[in-house]
Amino acid sequence: MKTALITGASSGIGKELARIHASKGGDLVLVARRTESLDALKAELETKHGIKVITFTQDLSEVHAAKKVYDFVQKSGIEIEYLMNNAGFGGHGEFVDRPIEKDLEMIQLNVSALVELTHLFLQDMKQRKSGKILNTASSAGFLPGPLQTTYFATKAFVVSFTKGLAFELRKSGVTVTALCPGPVKTEFEHVAGLEGGNMFDKGASALQTAKSGYNGMMKGKVIQISDPALAFMIRFLLPFIPRTWLSAVVEKMQTVPKKS
Ligand SMILES: NC(=O)c1ccc[n+]([C@@H]2O[C@H](COP(=O)([O-])OP(=O)(O)OC[C@H]3O[C@@H](n4cnc5c(N)ncnc54)[C@H](OP(=O)(O)O)[C@@H]3O)[C@@H](O)[C@H]2O)c1
Repeated sequence: MKTALITGASSGIGKELARIHASKGGDLVLVARRTESLDALKAELETKHGIKVITFTQDLSEVHAAKKVYDFVQKSGIEIEYLMNNAGFGGHGEFVDRPIEKDLEMIQLNVSALVELTHLFLQDMKQRKSGKILNTASSAGFLPGPLQTTYFATKAFVVSFTKGLAFELRKSGVTVTALCPGPVKTEFEHVAGLEGGNMFDKGASALQTAKSGYNGMMKGKVIQISDPALAFMIRFLLPFIPRTWLSAVVEKMQTVPKKS
């Protein structure tokens, strides 16, 4: 089992992706901002599975942070067979009322860092005619997203980017997969300011979601919607639902009680 690089491995879906890859005997490069969480995961996985884990603390919302990650990996002499672009965050509120800096940071992380990391590591994968990329998108990528307009748009980008790239790569020996979960119980809800609503009450577990994404990546699927009911809805019902009705449902789902 070869080495995987996972961004956003300090919690939630990324942490579970790391545990799955380690359980199969694969080495890891883990990237996120919280050094302590990455180090704790490194200790856990090296002890449990006897694999090698390297951590790299990096804020991926910094411009060209992806290049720093790539250069670090090159200097370490590691070949990345699996690239899992998973780091991302959302943010609640009407677009016009949100601080624009926060939305630009979101675009930088959810879109630009993902694109740049893919471009850098893909060159090596294409040359080797081998490699797999997993982009954590979202079911949000198929929907209009009032009260999280920028976040939904970043995930629509990731879905579209993955579909186009997958076709370009169809004869290359490299595959790219977009993991599209519905609500998942992770730190995402808190970070996005969505606490107090009920969208995450019946959310999937991070482990269940990561398993689905990992399996989809291994099979080379282009789109992996981790919740089967949601997959049915997106594939067969969504084209027939009027946009304004859909927007109203999404807005209601994302409405959180005002903090007093
Ligand atoms: N939870 C959901 O309902 C849901 C649904 C669909 C899709 N997703 C997507 O799933 C992915 C993982 O989210 P999650 O649910 O597992 O949430 P999470 O628990 O909040 O994990 C997010 C991860 O991204 C990392 N991260 C955030 N900002 C970063 C930055 N500037 N630089 C580097 N790393 C950063 C975080 O680490 P640090 O804080 O240590 O940097 C953390 O490891 C995201 O792309 C999210 O959009 C989530």
